[in-house]
Amino acid sequence: MSFLRHHKKIETNATLLLVLCLVVVSIGGIVEIAPLFYIESTIEKVKGMRPYSPLELAGRNVYIREGCHLCHSQMIRPLRDEVERYGHYSLAVESIYDHPFQWGSKRTGPDLARVGARYSDEWHVDHLTNPRSVVPVSIMPKYRFLLENKLDSADIKAVLVANRRVGVPYTDEMIENAASDFEVQVDPDGDWEDMTARYPKAQVRNFDGQDDLTEMDALIAYLQMLGTLVDFSTFTPDASR
Ligand code: HEC
Repeated sequence: MSFLRHHKKIETNATLLLVLCLVVVSIGGIVEIAPLFYIESTIEKVKGMRPYSPLELAGRNVYIREGCHLCHSQMIRPLRDEVERYGHYSLAVESIYDHPFQWGSKRTGPDLARVGARYSDEWHVDHLTNPRSVVPVSIMPKYRFLLENKLDSADIKAVLVANRRVGVPYTDEMIENAASDFEVQVDPDGDWEDMTARYPKAQVRNFDGQDDLTEMDALIAYLQMLGTLVDFSTFTPDASR
């Protein structure tokens, strides 16, 4: 067993042991993780996914800026209790246009991956203005100021361009129309057909019930679309590939 004698050298030298452990773990890691970047089936292709509309994207930026992700995850695990509470488990493709993604594992509040269409816009306005007005035991902070913060479309085009740079397939047409698509989504009387052609299933209405275009509009537009793009009544994991 001369081989085992060499092992003593490793076991009595902490630094060498550490370095060799790292080498072994890295090989295991590379073997498991690297192929995922190349195998096509890592991310299932599913009908319905599309990049965020400019207003939804602005809402997502408010969501990140306000740290909603510190208390809310957006990833439903394939476990029975989660699926019964929140709906179909999250698919990788549902966060394909998220930079950065919002999965998370810290849930002070509920998961929001499928919160879209679960509540009315009025409920969201009340809840974000003062969570305890609708959920008396809530510990969620108040975000009343979002009703006063006006949104302007000055930099939305740049936001789309930045997203395109990191891989979101915004077309030239989408970027060209970013500012008008942004405003038209809160105006049901406006010319929104082109916008909904670019962003199918985009919901068009005045989200916060006020005349001004505010951060509240954008945030609610974002919340109301979460989890609504993929039609799970027709989804079967294999047929959709
Ligand atoms: C300090 C932690 C905390 C932060 C930060 C927070 N929330 Fe919450 N949130 C909660 C808790 C706790 C609940 C459950 C009680 C309730 O409904 O108010 C909740 C509930 C919700 C719900 C209802 C979910 C459901 O399925 O019933 C929504 C929507 C929501 N939060 C959105 C937001 C948004 C948007 C932000 C950022 C602007 C935010 N939250 C920030 C803790 C937080």
